[in-house]
Amino acid sequence: MKQRENWGSRLGVILAVAGSAVGLGNFLRFPVKAATYGGGAFMIPYLIAIVFLAIPLAWMEWTLGRYAAIHGHGTGPGLLDKMFKKPWAKFAGSFGLFAPTFISFYYVFIQSWLLAFAWYSLNGQLLNAVQSNTITSFFGDFIMLNTKIGPIPAAIFFFVITFLANFSVLAFGVRRGIERLNKYAMPLLLLMGVGLLIRVLTIPGIEAGLAYMWNPDFSALTNPRVWIEASGQVFFTLSIGIAVILCYASYVKKDEDLVLSSLSAVGTNTFAEVILSGTIVVPLAMILYGANIAEVAQMGTFGLGFQTMPMVFGKLPLANLLQFVWFSMLFLAGMTSTISIQQPLITFCEDELKFKRLKSIAAVAIFTGFGAFVAIFGLAGGALS
Ligand code: PHE
Repeated sequence: MKQRENWGSRLGVILAVAGSAVGLGNFLRFPVKAATYGGGAFMIPYLIAIVFLAIPLAWMEWTLGRYAAIHGHGTGPGLLDKMFKKPWAKFAGSFGLFAPTFISFYYVFIQSWLLAFAWYSLNGQLLNAVQSNTITSFFGDFIMLNTKIGPIPAAIFFFVITFLANFSVLAFGVRRGIERLNKYAMPLLLLMGVGLLIRVLTIPGIEAGLAYMWNPDFSALTNPRVWIEASGQVFFTLSIGIAVILCYASYVKKDEDLVLSSLSAVGTNTFAEVILSGTIVVPLAMILYGANIAEVAQMGTFGLGFQTMPMVFGKLPLANLLQFVWFSMLFLAGMTSTISIQQPLITFCEDELKFKRLKSIAAVAIFTGFGAFVAIFGLAGGALS
């Protein structure tokens, strides 16, 4: 059996799994869910779901990944085939390939908006849009492909750069590509998050927003939707249940302590989500909307991240810099998640189809690139409007 790759260090695998977990879900999805479903009260089902659902399932996924690797596999079809030895098993296992791949179709496109907005923060176009009160049409024109760079839509330009950047990392493999990226990107993004956190906490009047975010309104807990949404958020944010962690765990060394590594990754994600995102996004938005939480919730995932945040930062000194840090932090968070969503199909090509690495990369790039273009024109064609 061909020798499979390994993570170079324990810290490396923890950062890679944490990198998969910390993503757009933390900074765009979580704040909207929390604002919509009870603010501080949302945190109760959320934490219960982490302890009773996510942590045990994450342990299971890590263990299954390491088990699959013993037999030379790293994805669902190979694993289930080994476990059940029935004809249906491989088909059932293919869910673990399709689910992440489908997520990647739209996830990479959104990741590329972040690169674009980091750029627009630097060159001042974003601040202009904020100051002239045209941020909504600025964002709308961009995602609807109406903003052009020469003859090509700007959104396509940034998408292609982002797409190539992701695959160049993946082309270096698990250790020299994914692990190395996460070793730099994760500390950097946490540092940027802490920087923003400190800035936000020193804004006069932030207490009202913090109070909403952190004072539970227990009556929300009688609404079953709150419980369902909280569990859904936990699964998405921790990348659990769709065989992404399974794939990463198939590259751990045989004697790795899975329990502790898994807990460290969950802990890092919870810190980024609850402490960083929870303190930065909703309280800041509350300042802009005068503590009207209904309006904050209504902004939706993209409104809050791409319009409200640049607007609030636009009112502070060093606005460009704050906007730039916000969007670059999100871009890094997005990138470390994207590559984890794309790796399972690459692993499948290598383990099961016996393709060499570069051939696997090329096959997956063509397939997901095609899917992403369908998603882009679907989104731009009105799914967002
Ligand atoms: N956890 C990522 C986020 O919070 C998204 C993701 C889901 C990544 C599933 C991998 C698998 O954005």
